Amino acid sequence: MATIIDGNKTSASIRQEIKEKVQSITERGGKIPHLAAILVGTDGASETYVNLKVKDCEQVGFKSTLKRFDDTISEEELLAEVEAINNDPDIDGLIVQLPIPDHISVQKVTDRIRPEKDVDGFHPINVGRMAKSLPAYISATPYGIMQLIERYKIETSGKHCVVIGRSDIVGSPMSILLSRKAYPGNCTVTLCHSRTKNIKEMTLQADIVIAALGSPEFLTGDMVKEGAVVIDVGTTRVPDPSKKSGFTLKGDVNYEKVAPKCSYITPVPGGVGPMTRASLLMNTLLAAEKAIYR
Ligand code: GUN
Repeated sequence: MATIIDGNKTSASIRQEIKEKVQSITERGGKIPHLAAILVGTDGASETYVNLKVKDCEQVGFKSTLKRFDDTISEEELLAEVEAINNDPDIDGLIVQLPIPDHISVQKVTDRIRPEKDVDGFHPINVGRMAKSLPAYISATPYGIMQLIERYKIETSGKHCVVIGRSDIVGSPMSILLSRKAYPGNCTVTLCHSRTKNIKEMTLQADIVIAALGSPEFLTGDMVKEGAVVIDVGTTRVPDPSKKSGFTLKGDVNYEKVAPKCSYITPVPGGVGPMTRASLLMNTLLAAEKAIYR
């Protein structure tokens, strides 16, 4: 039977570790880590995520600043807000919650955040440094997955890892991280995406599958080999009138059919999701400690 990778428990341990570090920083009169978040518009999911991120900061003892703007804000105005935070010496990390309205360039906004404060790890400098195995902020979901692999002591060296999905935020960095010469890493990585012709042929060869395509229950029991490690990054909201929220969160893996074949598997919810939030806290702590950029 598969070991269920418990993201709630692991992220709670990480939050506890961070809380203790903040307590010791406070005791020696050091600077309290401070995260700023920018939220544009009123997208329901973004609102939920940002509020949770702010709550997480409170729980570990960080300072946080939430700046909300109407979706009519111009690109120029938003860039000026980013610049102001870049120049605020009290703020260690800044995230701009995505998506942002279409009239604002995501690339321009991402590129304007100072790499030293880019705790989302989206700036090209951080992505480039990660690819070169230099100290860098690693974006939250991949960092969370790396933590799960490490804390569950899952062997990766020489394993064949199949990543499904090539997004900038998850699939692409995961493929880079797991092929690096380090632990977790040293994998042979295959990156599958919407143009891949024979995904099942690929996943059947995989020792590790990372499903990050955003298609509910895409990975079925017949697509994985016995003993595989399966990491489910999917979080699609599927309408469900029986739920108070009106939706059910669905992963990219058909858990019922896939789990019995696995050595390790992450559930949805309670797998990768909570780790993503913990990673942002880890990156903010690294920013406050000036551990990445000295
Ligand atoms: N939208 C979805 N995921 C993320 C994330 O990790 N960071 C930001 N800033 N926006 C997101």
